[in-house]
Amino acid sequence: AHRPLIAPSILSADFARLGEEIQVVAGQGDTRADWVHVDVMDAHFVPNLTLGLPVVQSLLKVTDLPLDCHLMIENPDRWAIGYAEAGAYNVTVHAEAAKDPVKIAKDLRAAGAKAGLSIKPGTPLEDHLEVLKHYDTLLVMSVEPGFGGQSFIADVLGKVRAARRLVDTGHLNVLVEIDGGINAETIEQAAEAGVDCFVAGSAVYGAADPGKAVAALRDLAAQ
Ligand code: DX5
Ligand code: ZN
Repeated sequence: AHRPLIAPSILSADFARLGEEIQVVAGQGDTRADWVHVDVMDAHFVPNLTLGLPVVQSLLKVTDLPLDCHLMIENPDRWAIGYAEAGAYNVTVHAEAAKDPVKIAKDLRAAGAKAGLSIKPGTPLEDHLEVLKHYDTLLVMSVEPGFGGQSFIADVLGKVRAARRLVDTGHLNVLVEIDGGINAETIEQAAEAGVDCFVAGSAVYGAADPGKAVAALRDLAAQ
């Protein structure tokens, strides 16, 4: 397996100090995050409201870490492209919200970003297999999207295993990412199921030393 990727979610960071909070996981060596996960919520697709494109544009100016933008919004067909044009590394839309997911993926890639597709815990992988081949990342939600600090839903590991098999047999070329309830107690089972990239919010920003938490999580995932 490759080196596991760790993507701290700034949803659990101090929103008054987002730039500094990113620097805390932008050090050198093992404590450096691989991506920074940015949760965009619109109070319609999910019952919570966070931040949008203007904040992402500002964050892109203060960090060289790749921004992994997770759009929990209605009508990503309209809004996703702006994040790619702004310079986000990966832009993930929800399969449940996308009207034309193939077009979204093509537009994101044409704008120079990677394209991500996310599925909620109750959404079957099979329902979206046909469009998944147009995407670079598959974000499997392991909590109901909307809030940090929820408990890991282990049932989704079946979908992770299925995706891993499709990748390993050459039927799919995506990075498998998991989001929700990832911490020192849950990351090993996710790694064992075949996850490539681990989003962690409260487990990183709730730690006394977020950089050390990044290193510790990556170590556990690499076992
Ligand atoms: C939830 C967000 C997650 C969230 C994860 O809707 O998509 O990225 O920040 O937080 P934890 O790691 O605390 O479950
Ligand atoms: Zn997220």
